Amino acid sequence: MRVLISGAGVAGPTLAYFLSKAGARVTVIEKAPKLLPHGQNVDITGSAITVIKKMGLLEQVKQYHTREKGTQLIDPKGQPFAPFPVKEDTIASFTSEFEILRGDMAKLLWEASRVQPNVEYVFDTTIKEVLSNDNASVKVELSNGSIQEYDLLVAADGQWSKVRKQCFQSNDVSVVDKGMYVVYFTVPRLEEDNDWWNVYFGLQSRIITLRPDPHGTIRAMFTIMPRSEAQKSVWQNASRAGRQKQEELVREEFVNAGWQAKRLLNAMSKAPDFYFQAIQQIKMAKWSNNRVICLGDTAYAPTPLTGMGTSLALIGGYMLAGELAKLQSGEHPRSALETYEKALRPFVEQTQQVPGIVPGVAHPDTAWKRWLLQTALSTLSKAANQPWIVKLVGGDKTAEQNTEGFELPLYEDLDKML
Ligand SMILES: Cc1cc2nc3c(=O)[nH]c(=O)nc-3n(C[C@H](O)[C@H](O)[C@H](O)COP(=O)(O)OP(=O)(O)OC[C@H]3O[C@@H](n4cnc5c(N)ncnc54)[C@H](O)[C@@H]3O)c2cc1C
Ligand SMILES: *[C@@H]1O[C@H](CO)[C@@H](O)[C@H](O)[C@H]1NC(C)=O
Ligand SMILES: *[C@@H]1O[C@H](CO)[C@@H](O)[C@H](O)[C@H]1NC(C)=O
Ligand SMILES: *[C@@H]1O[C@H](CO)[C@@H](O)[C@H](O)[C@H]1NC(C)=O
Repeated sequence: MRVLISGAGVAGPTLAYFLSKAGARVTVIEKAPKLLPHGQNVDITGSAITVIKKMGLLEQVKQYHTREKGTQLIDPKGQPFAPFPVKEDTIASFTSEFEILRGDMAKLLWEASRVQPNVEYVFDTTIKEVLSNDNASVKVELSNGSIQEYDLLVAADGQWSKVRKQCFQSNDVSVVDKGMYVVYFTVPRLEEDNDWWNVYFGLQSRIITLRPDPHGTIRAMFTIMPRSEAQKSVWQNASRAGRQKQEELVREEFVNAGWQAKRLLNAMSKAPDFYFQAIQQIKMAKWSNNRVICLGDTAYAPTPLTGMGTSLALIGGYMLAGELAKLQSGEHPRSALETYEKALRPFVEQTQQVPGIVPGVAHPDTAWKRWLLQTALSTLSKAANQPWIVKLVGGDKTAEQNTEGFELPLYEDLDKML
């Protein structure tokens, strides 16, 4: 089977790895000139850990652990309070056992897949046009002008996929806007920095956080929930603008936010990995259309609010390969694409249910709401050390046991090739 994958993020390389094991010929094209190191901590939980194990990457994932000690809040005077320390081998913390940076995870997956037989990576390349998608094959014109023919085209080019736009009706794709914007970047580490995830609630629905990484630098994150339609329109427009416009807006809106805002804003323009994200979910009526299928964020971005984007991409990549490995040589992939979707969709829909109130509560706009939130979290942090509450919230489980009710189907045809 000849497969073209658009996007070398998390989902694309995972699928490439398993498809190669199953004997397919795989080309992965990526828009960026080289692998993007961007992004911060992502959770690898439940069945996604099983997928990592199947790839033999568990030890390497552990080596890239960010070594974060846990989460603590920062009060308006800059003092830490309400600590939620990581508990050895359990999930009763906002920092997980398999805490890894998105960029490090993407690199491990790329390295593991690029050395497999019949896997080719082509950077600085996109699909210019999908020329045809019929019962016989799918034909594309690449940005370098060449026309290529495949048995399957996988859109793994993320939340704003261009391939999805070309191959699916806009009515069948919905974008659920969560009214929240996030900016990530890396800054030099200072002596006074620490190994906690430090979370500061600025007023006017702004949050600033700082957390350690395993590379000797510090990761800054700014988030905001615009409070008026006018402010929202400015942020929305910025998400389509270039880095310079985005930086200007962040500077304007955060300069008086307090705590370390000034230091971070000064370092922002020198950051090698500035990344601006509008928090939106993607929902599709159907993930495939004939020989084209969407995978990972392209099909079902859940947003960082769920902490599940990377885990869903890993699980989806493995399951899609598992179904494709069952096909007879030359068979149309339709049945595999449909069985895959049927098996994964209920879990995706469960994961995408973020209570609407969550991002709002976490972004207090006034001083008394901040007081309320900080008091609640402070109380929770004390309670979280009580064994009974740890049990109550399921925090006595390890990250691996915490499958959230989703067990991977058994794919014997694929597993015997691993
Ligand atoms: C740079 C970056 C930083 C991120 N940081 C975070 C983070 O800090 N926290 C978090 O929770 N989530 C983050 N995410 C989202 C997270 O990676 C996904 O939720 C999850 O890992 C699913 O991955 P994916 O492979 O489906 O999509 P993605 O990881 O988004 O990968 C998509 C890939 O496709 C490439 N691409 C885009 N357009 C095209 C095109 N037209 N042709 C070819 N290739 C294209 C992109 O460059 C990217 O490499 C980030 C995503 C990106 C791209
Ligand atoms: C493609 O195959 C399906 C299922 O076998 C069939 O119903 C359909 O008519 C075919 N379409 C074309 C254009 O041949
Ligand atoms: C374009 O890229 C494809 C995929 O790597 C490659 O096979 C082809 O030879 C390239 N064509 C040109 C004209 O560079
Ligand atoms: C945002 O963009 C839209 C469409 O281009 C424009 O009509 C609107 O005025 C812009 N809003 C702001 C605040 O710049």
